[in-house]
Formats: sequence, C-alpha cells, structure tokens
Amino acid sequence: MDAADGPGPIPPVLLVGCGRMGSALLAGWDGQGLSPSVILDPCPVGMPQTGPHLAATDAAGIPPGFRPAVVVLAIKPQMADAAMAAVAAVAANATVLSIMAGRTLSGLRAALPGAGGIVRAMPNTPAAIGRGISVAVAEPSVDEAGRDVCDRLLQAAGSVSWVEDEALLDPVTAVSGSGPAYVFLLAELLEAAGRAQGLPAPLARRLARETVSGAGALLAASAEDAAALRQAVTSPGGTTEAALSVLMAADAWPLALHEAVRAATGRSQALAR
Ligand SMILES: NC(=O)c1ccc[n+]([C@@H]2O[C@H](COP(=O)([O-])OP(=O)(O)OC[C@H]3O[C@@H](n4cnc5c(N)ncnc54)[C@H](OP(=O)(O)O)[C@@H]3O)[C@@H](O)[C@H]2O)c1
Repeated sequence: MDAADGPGPIPPVLLVGCGRMGSALLAGWDGQGLSPSVILDPCPVGMPQTGPHLAATDAAGIPPGFRPAVVVLAIKPQMADAAMAAVAAVAANATVLSIMAGRTLSGLRAALPGAGGIVRAMPNTPAAIGRGISVAVAEPSVDEAGRDVCDRLLQAAGSVSWVEDEALLDPVTAVSGSGPAYVFLLAELLEAAGRAQGLPAPLARRLARETVSGAGALLAASAEDAAALRQAVTSPGGTTEAALSVLMAADAWPLALHEAVRAATGRSQALAR
C-alpha cells in the first residue's frame, strides 16, 4: 500500500455501550473512517447522528449477518454479565476489546469462550477530547493484527501503551484511570484556597481552572520533566518556594498521593474478577 493511501477504514465494530466512553471512542473512529458498524445500547444518547452506524437497542436488533472484526465492551461492569451473554454469539471468532474496569482477561474469557482473542484496556476521561491515555494487555493468543486493530481503536481516544503483565492494570487504574479526578480536585482546592485569601469567587474559579489546564498544556508541550518545570517557577526565597515547602513536606503531598494511589490500586485489585 502507498503511504499516501493511509491505513484504510477501521473494520466493522460492534460497540456495546455508547455512554461517555463509548461515544468518545465512536466519535474518534468516525473521524478516521469506520466501516459500517452496529452500536448496541438501550438508549444511545451519545451516538453521533452521522456515520454508517446501525443503532440496536437490544441484541435482537443486530442484523443476523453482521460479523464484526472487533466487539468493544464499553458498558459498566455491573451490566457486563447480561451484555456479554447477549453478544456471545456475535463475538464468536471476533477480537474483543474491553475497557471495563476490573474485568480481567480470564473473567472475560469465561464469559466469551468463543471469542477470537481478548484485549483489556484502561482508558481515561480525557478520551472525550482525544487526549486520553489507555494501557492495554492482550491474551497471549491475540496476534499482531488483533493488537493493531485494538491499538487503532484506542488511539482514537489518545495515546496507547501496551503491557505484558495484566497485574499492572491495577496501578494503571490508580494513576491514569482515576488520575483525572485528582487533578480536578486540585482545581477545586486551589479555587477554595484562593477565596480564603480574599479573591472574589469568580476570579478564584477562573484562576484555578486556567492554571491547572495551562500548566497541563505546558507539560504536554514540553520535553522536560515535571520536576524541571516546577523548579523553573521556583525562585529561592520566593512565593512558590514558600508554598512548596508546605506541599512537599514528607507528610503532605508526597504521603497523601502515595497513599491515594495505593488505596486505588488495592481497590482495583479487590474489584477484579
Ligand atoms: N468513565 C471513566 O472514567 C472510565 C475510565 C476507564 C474505563 N471506564 C470504563 O468504561 C466503561 C463505560 O463507562 P462509561 O463512563 O462510559 O459508562 P456509561 O456512561 O454509563 O456508559 C455505559 C452505557 O452502556 C449502556 N448499557 C447498559 N446496559 C447495556 C447492555 N446490556 N447492552 C448495551 N449497552 C448497555 C448504558 O445505558 P444506560 O445508561 O441506559 O444504562 C450506557 O449508555 C466502564 O466499564 C468503565 O469501567 C470508564
């Protein structure tokens, strides 16, 4: 194939669950050219109105001859058993890509014994603007073509890393899966702290939001380590240093974040099945 031809359309997908994550992925696939696909969701509110998709509100609505290359599971884990039972026949011989938290490769395999190969991935919510990061792990039987198509599907939501050890998905969940919430909390706390120092509420809100998003954009645009960027705004004896001496005390942020990620990792391990 000539490089100018590009990778061609994404092969047909059965997307099971078109909520926040599913619709964000679907929007990205549409942008790259998605072969005629089926979206299964009882109420697919997030489904784009354009694109060659057929919406099915239950498995009976999937056309009998539809043979997806990939079945993407983007339902809540609580809905998973019913949803997987409903699509098991369609998933036979297809690659299955699950983004469900806590559903292990072995648990997925038990529910979908006929699936061609199973990939488990953990994305995060910046996927909604194509700025997420996903970490994926595949059953050993998944071949290069299966990995490639899953990689392409996940890249619609941002960048992708692959690991060989599924146990790493627990700390991945704790760092990048839950991580956006920690950053949003930072914005909340910075806003409240600004108000406490006398800033009018609208200004405190704006400063906190713009600072968190601007610093994130600067980090993304820079090849430097976060520590180097931090040091670049820290003059000896200055205001930033005064703040960081509080935040970086051993029992402050270093301990709190360490414990937070440890708690989330433990919770992910406990929920896994
Ligand atoms: N959001 C995150 O930060 C994040 C990060 C990483 C991974 N994930 C994983 O992504 C998955 C989806 O999360 P989400 O935030 O996108 O959830 P969501 O917004 O609730 O979307 C799930 C969708 O699936 C639909 N659904 C329910 N039962 C179904 C069935 N039997 N067949 C087909 N569709 C069905 C739901 O419809 P109803 O609303 O009508 O029930 C809903 O539209 C979860 O497993 C989560 O662990 C989420």
